[in-house]
Amino acid sequence: SADRITNICCIGAGYVGGPTCAVIAAKCPEIRITVVDRDPARISAWNSDTLPVYEPGLDALVKRQRNINLVFSTDIDRAIDEAQLIFIAVNTPPMHHHTHVSSLGAKPDLSAVSDCARRIARVSLTDKIVVAKSTVPCGACATIAQMLRDNAQSGVRFSVLSNPEFLSEGTAVRDLLHPDRILIGGDDMVAQDRLKAVYMHWVPEPNILTMNMWSSELAKLASNAMLAQRVSSINSISAICEAVGANISEVAAGCGSDSRIGSKFLRPSLGFGGSCFHKDIASLIWLSESLGLPEVAEYWHQVLALNRFQIRRFVARILADASRGDGSSGLQGRRVACLGFAFKEGTGDTRNTPAADVCCELLRNGATLSVYDPKVSRHHIVDRLAAAAGTDCSVDSVTVCADAYSAIAGSDIVVVLTAWSEFRVIDWEQALKLMAKPAYVFDGQIVLDHDRLRQLGFNVFSIGHTHVTAQ
Ligand code: UDX
Ligand code: UDX
Ligand code: ADP
Repeated sequence: SADRITNICCIGAGYVGGPTCAVIAAKCPEIRITVVDRDPARISAWNSDTLPVYEPGLDALVKRQRNINLVFSTDIDRAIDEAQLIFIAVNTPPMHHHTHVSSLGAKPDLSAVSDCARRIARVSLTDKIVVAKSTVPCGACATIAQMLRDNAQSGVRFSVLSNPEFLSEGTAVRDLLHPDRILIGGDDMVAQDRLKAVYMHWVPEPNILTMNMWSSELAKLASNAMLAQRVSSINSISAICEAVGANISEVAAGCGSDSRIGSKFLRPSLGFGGSCFHKDIASLIWLSESLGLPEVAEYWHQVLALNRFQIRRFVARILADASRGDGSSGLQGRRVACLGFAFKEGTGDTRNTPAADVCCELLRNGATLSVYDPKVSRHHIVDRLAAAAGTDCSVDSVTVCADAYSAIAGSDIVVVLTAWSEFRVIDWEQALKLMAKPAYVFDGQIVLDHDRLRQLGFNVFSIGHTHVTAQ
């Protein structure tokens, strides 16, 4: 019928827009999708052999659909004009941007979303469904609707929907193909049903939840906040484990096997990083404060505070165990091999990576660093460290290495900062020979075989495990 969606425009050819549209195009052959961006380099990259986003399975998907029913273009106005439904998938950075760990609530910067709304209103000559894909603060969809009404051509009607994206980096295509749920928030049931019909090409109907706008916007923020909260919860318990002699992996298994709790997202670590968790919690804190709910703001604030505490504890442990003890201060003269730098394994992304915070603390305490990450390039590591370091420490004493062994060679201390499985298969006997003695390993991600390392002669500390005093 004429009511079916046959032409979609997506504004924002980034991490969310690109993969989402590739999957819709693959699953809905009768829909034509145009992904547009104000950055021509982005669009050329999507049209080239080397896509601007790496995700397993994405390359094949894009190359199969491209120029069949998936088009990447810089002609934003034309794509808006031709579409019945428009996704807004532009970025929404926090307004008060903290280079590493944010501590206060922050209102997301909605300027890109507002630009899109004004442009859509100006260009549209027919009715449109406008869908917020970007994570926006609660209430933003109502603002978008108001902006569209205020700037609309006469007689043109807009229906605004909230349709948040839940994909994770490294599994974006799988997450899009098999979503746990799709949320469609709004008050126009006809528009909701049209978007629902798009997803029903591959998502079972019970997994598509329609709800009001506020519910959908809030469910997105709360989901990320709750996932982060689980990481902070298990990390808080890891501190107790170290003090009393419990083993955090055993505790996590003991808790996670309760079906009411569930086993996912209970991996102890140096804390959560990435582009979403800090930003969304900051947004939730800002919302709570602005609603006059300081207790709620404080509750979520603690999730961030615990995340920072985990890093401070880890660095304090390194200082306590591996300072020279010869009167020289801190880690002066110590070389630390930092294994991993990405915010999680399987990605080269360094946004809010706990590794940068650990590295900066080590630098402040006088250490010299050799950093290796299998997926993060040298200039990304240096740039991220320089940004996180601020003015009180210098990144001059940082070397970026091409493999783990060159990072380990000549070091006194190895720290594991990202849970890459390749660190497990390092030849640790060989590694020990390359290191100064006594050799220390501090495992911030619980990836190594600690008993074996101790047998080889390493002094080993791991997050969430009894602290064995170094000889
Ligand atoms: C609890 C644990 O579930 C059980 O494993 C443990 O051995 C003893 O403590 P119980 O105290 O019987 O059991 O009650 P439970 O059903 O867990 O509920 C605890 C409280 O949480 C109740 O007041 C309940 O109303 C409340 N609750 C529970 C909620 O408010 N919301 C929920 O979603 C679940
Ligand atoms: C997250 C959400 O999972 C996704 O639904 C949302 O759309 C975007 O934000 P992402 O940032 O890609 O995705 O990473 P995720 O895999 O969720 O991990 C976030 C951080 O938590 C990482 O630093 C990870 O190392 C850490 N983490 C995760 C833990 O420390 N322990 C865990 O058990 C799980
Ligand atoms: P996300 O992870 O939310 O997808 P990205 O930064 O990967 O964020 O992508 C967002 C994209 O949106 C970028 O390619 C950026 O150029 C584009 N963009 C931002 N603002 C606008 C705008 N007003 N009009 C068109 N494109 C925009």
